[in-house]
Amino acid sequence: MVAIRFIAVDGSMQTIDATVGISLMENAVANGVEAIEAICGGNAYCGTCRVHVEPEWRKVTGAVTEMEEPMIEASGDTDPGVRLSCQIEVTEALEGLVVRTPASQS
Ligand code: FES
Repeated sequence: MVAIRFIAVDGSMQTIDATVGISLMENAVANGVEAIEAICGGNAYCGTCRVHVEPEWRKVTGAVTEMEEPMIEASGDTDPGVRLSCQIEVTEALEGLVVRTPASQS
């Protein structure tokens, strides 16, 4: 388990004990993070699992993948840390990760 913190647009925080080997989205849904709706179930075509990765974590979580690009573009989300949480696999390296959820998902 690794601790991951979600910060909502109103500043409220929720820290979850995430399971390694599944996606950040799956962990968020399993732990009741309300801002992560994940309508498409992790197929990178709904955009309702977006997170904004804090600057100090972007190297660890990695860049937007080719699979994410079209959905992120369509969402109009231009935050420099935007990712689809369904495309981020939780690893031990993410211990302490902090992400924000976008206003459009609040
Ligand atoms: Fe739909 Fe991630 S769950 S894009």
